[in-house]
Amino acid sequence: MPEAAISVRDLRKSYGSVEAVRGISFDVARGEIFGLLGPNGAGKTTTVEILEGYRKRSGGDVSVLGSDPAARDRGLRKRVGIVLQSSGFYPRATVRESVEHMAAVYPAPRDPSETIALVGLEEKRDTRAGKLSGGQRRRLDLALALVGDPELIFLDEPTTGFDPAARRTAWGVVRKLKELGKTVLLTTHYLDEAQSLSDRVAIVKDGLLIAQGPPSELSADRARYRISYRRNGQLAQHETDDPTELLHRLTGEALERGERLEDLSVSRPTLEDVYLDLTSEEPS
Ligand SMILES: Nc1ncnc2c1ncn2[C@@H]1O[C@H](COP(=O)(O)OP(=O)(O)O)[C@@H](O)[C@H]1O
Ligand SMILES: [Mg+2]
Repeated sequence: MPEAAISVRDLRKSYGSVEAVRGISFDVARGEIFGLLGPNGAGKTTTVEILEGYRKRSGGDVSVLGSDPAARDRGLRKRVGIVLQSSGFYPRATVRESVEHMAAVYPAPRDPSETIALVGLEEKRDTRAGKLSGGQRRRLDLALALVGDPELIFLDEPTTGFDPAARRTAWGVVRKLKELGKTVLLTTHYLDEAQSLSDRVAIVKDGLLIAQGPPSELSADRARYRISYRRNGQLAQHETDDPTELLHRLTGEALERGERLEDLSVSRPTLEDVYLDLTSEEPS
């Protein structure tokens, strides 16, 4: 197997007495879109900022494109694109000026106009950054991260605060990055975003990684089928590993009674069910 783009082993981070990350491990392959999914305060930004070289870890090993980001090597930084959770840009510079300025920092940047088009900001190219809407600013952040043509891109909550149309645009950009062969580590607390974009996701909660795998397998892992129907106006539900057998029995019994099972359905838990189940406060 080729060397992973990112490798994290037993990563730990404490802020004073707060243990924000309590020993998490995962690998991200080159060309993969990997989603760190979890509620606010789970430790996603802490993890990503350690990988970006912005924060020091308290323990564990990490490797990013073969280097330790804690060394803050300039060569590594030019191969990585970063969208911070909260951004910094010059409010008086226009979109085009901001992107061109950033392009000048990199040895082999993408074309600035093409990058502005990629994030869907063509119509705003001459607008000052300070006059953009929240969603447009996040798209500018994305353009600033992409213009250096990095191999690896960190996107920390890339669509928080976006309206639905802007989210779709941003999702399109992430998919284009994958087509270009880039590696993407994204964090999100939106389950649909993680599910729709990621090749694999890791669910984090309270600084621990509580599940990881391809979105489809994460839900399949706990795949109890659910059969539901109405009887005398009351909803009845059953869970089973063998829906064929149970369905046969339920429908057989109903026919013997001369009844129909109204609203009969067979479903599997979605990733949403799994996520809510894993991240709920109640012990399960
Ligand atoms: N600079 C900091 N100093 C102290 N505590 C922090 C700091 N940054 C984050 N934390 C705490 O660490 C935990 C994880 O935060 P964070 O990594 O930002 O989570 P997420 O990005 O998943 O919302 C939270 O309890 C947060 O309050
Ligand atoms: Mg965060």
